[in-house]
Amino acid sequence: MRKKFVWLSTFAAVVSAMILSIGCKRSGPSAPANSATPHKQFIIGMSQCNLGEPWRVQMNADIRTAAAKHPELKVIFKDAQNDTLKQIYQLEEFVQQKVNLIIISPKEAQPLTGPVARAMEAGIPVIVLDRRLLGTNYTCFIGANNKKIGYAAGKWIVNALQGKGQVVELMGLMTSTPGQDRHAGFREAIAGTGIQILFEADMQWLEPNARMEMESALDRFSHIDLVFAANDDGAHGAYLAAKAAGRAGEMKFVGIDALPQEGIAWVKQGILDATFQYPTGGAEAVEMALKILHGENVPKDIQLGSRMFDKANVDQGGQPIQ
Ligand code: FRU
Repeated sequence: MRKKFVWLSTFAAVVSAMILSIGCKRSGPSAPANSATPHKQFIIGMSQCNLGEPWRVQMNADIRTAAAKHPELKVIFKDAQNDTLKQIYQLEEFVQQKVNLIIISPKEAQPLTGPVARAMEAGIPVIVLDRRLLGTNYTCFIGANNKKIGYAAGKWIVNALQGKGQVVELMGLMTSTPGQDRHAGFREAIAGTGIQILFEADMQWLEPNARMEMESALDRFSHIDLVFAANDDGAHGAYLAAKAAGRAGEMKFVGIDALPQEGIAWVKQGILDATFQYPTGGAEAVEMALKILHGENVPKDIQLGSRMFDKANVDQGGQPIQ
């Protein structure tokens, strides 16, 4: 009797387990077709130093377009609004959230070096885009060679001014590496020539600052041959100041970035005399992120190329800098 009871209850347990498992299958998520190897989702945290400048809006758009081709990637974008402290908090948040990878385009080198190192210590790979940090505690750096670009701009200027002239230099944020490197390359190229720097100022990459600085330069100097600005927005700000003073025709304007809707358009319109491309690296960052997330090795330093555009070549797509 007892044996029969044990057998019956075992049978009942097996049948109810079968019913339950069928029920679960019915009510659970339906498996996608061809789901033999379902894709893992990867979360990428992207900290952009600001979105007030069109070049940075373009960088985010390039990342978004490239990531959209890979459904396994989800990118969380954060805008640090040109505030270094905010950018530090954003990195800390990404570490707490345990994102799978971080992309950062840092505002300044020194203050963001430690927070990136802490993300690395937490086991999160970091791709640094466009502006460098101090040292090499990151997974991969992607950017063009700013010293080379500054040097090429300097050589173009020496040639355009036939070796001598009075120049205003509007530098990019000098606590950021592109600001320092473009300035160093430019100064190296004009050293020993008859180019004289009349006036220099740090316009921190911003068009309104450049315009203000240029107003001072115009007040102080009755003749200026050329303005070299570390980015096209700066060169455009200087142009606006010179135009308002009725002096834009007296001088040339040279910038860096060469966005199609800004620098290149301004060269075509005769506002700028030359611009040097600074690629955003957004698409390359997504390409490297995918490799890192799939456990592949990537180069520590990826150098992007640059092109020069002036009146003579802009309609043919510019020419690569050497
Ligand atoms: C935008 C920008 C660009 C420049 C880059 C350098 O913030 O100023 O114009 O090329 O940053 O990091």
